Amino acid sequence: MRTLDSLTLGSKWGSTLAGKKIGGGETQGLQYNSITPRFGVELGVDKPLLALDDEEVGALVQLAAERGVVVARDQDMTPQQQADFAHRLGSPLTTPVNKGKLPEELLLIQANEKSKGVAGNGWHSDVSSAVKPPGLSMLRMDIVPDAGGDTLFADMRQVFESLSPAMQNFLQTLHARHEPRGHYLYLSGAKRLDELPSVEHPVVRSHPLTGDKAIYVNDGFVAKIVELSGSESRALLNMLYDLVAYAVNFQCRVRWQPNTVVFWDNRVVQHHAAFDYWPERRRGYRATIEGEAPILLQ
Ligand code: SIN
Repeated sequence: MRTLDSLTLGSKWGSTLAGKKIGGGETQGLQYNSITPRFGVELGVDKPLLALDDEEVGALVQLAAERGVVVARDQDMTPQQQADFAHRLGSPLTTPVNKGKLPEELLLIQANEKSKGVAGNGWHSDVSSAVKPPGLSMLRMDIVPDAGGDTLFADMRQVFESLSPAMQNFLQTLHARHEPRGHYLYLSGAKRLDELPSVEHPVVRSHPLTGDKAIYVNDGFVAKIVELSGSESRALLNMLYDLVAYAVNFQCRVRWQPNTVVFWDNRVVQHHAAFDYWPERRRGYRATIEGEAPILLQ
């Protein structure tokens, strides 16, 4: 067993990812088991999230930066307690659409027998069209189907690593235009999508806590690679999206139970909510924590 502490946890540019296999372990009192050797961990059940002290919350944020996805089971909490916890992770995005029924920090994710589709049923990174797109997302489910409804996650650092040096170098010269889509309209409260600005972000970004480089284009929000022609941009984006979708070695998949909480770090992770459980119900609450304007450090 290796501990994250022995792998330079917390050092500013101490990436633990490249070329290392990390098993289960313990950091700052947080026990965890790996879902795959390098991507995704599941916390032990001995400590409810609501009982974590500030140092442990810091360790949780670092663990998500290092391992992309952190799963915590059996987390009984009210929506208000989840919203309060989200403030301990940073500045949560707020939405005007809850109209007092839910805290403004939470986005309701739900499907039932009337649903024809669900939010998040496609590979994406949350709200990447924001100037400062989300870092962590925190999703808690309270109603889950008997089977199905898993969320799939892809490690965009390993996708980047899998490319040839020539392609890695080329991608690091490029920027992509991210446009707000329906999901963001819902979050922002704007009436029309064209009221909302689009933004340009680097195609490869560096994680501010680890220095890890990750591909940062996603099918949910990206309209075009700025420096390329339309057909070149489409060809390159399709190549990258195929890598995300087919690269099962860089993915993990979370099976939900009532009161499962999953944190993912949108800077280095894309996710896809499977919609294979209709007409059963699934309901959860997502807190989305503001990140920083993406940058690429050499
Ligand atoms: C999302 O945040 O995109 C939803 C994820 C899910 O429902 O599993």
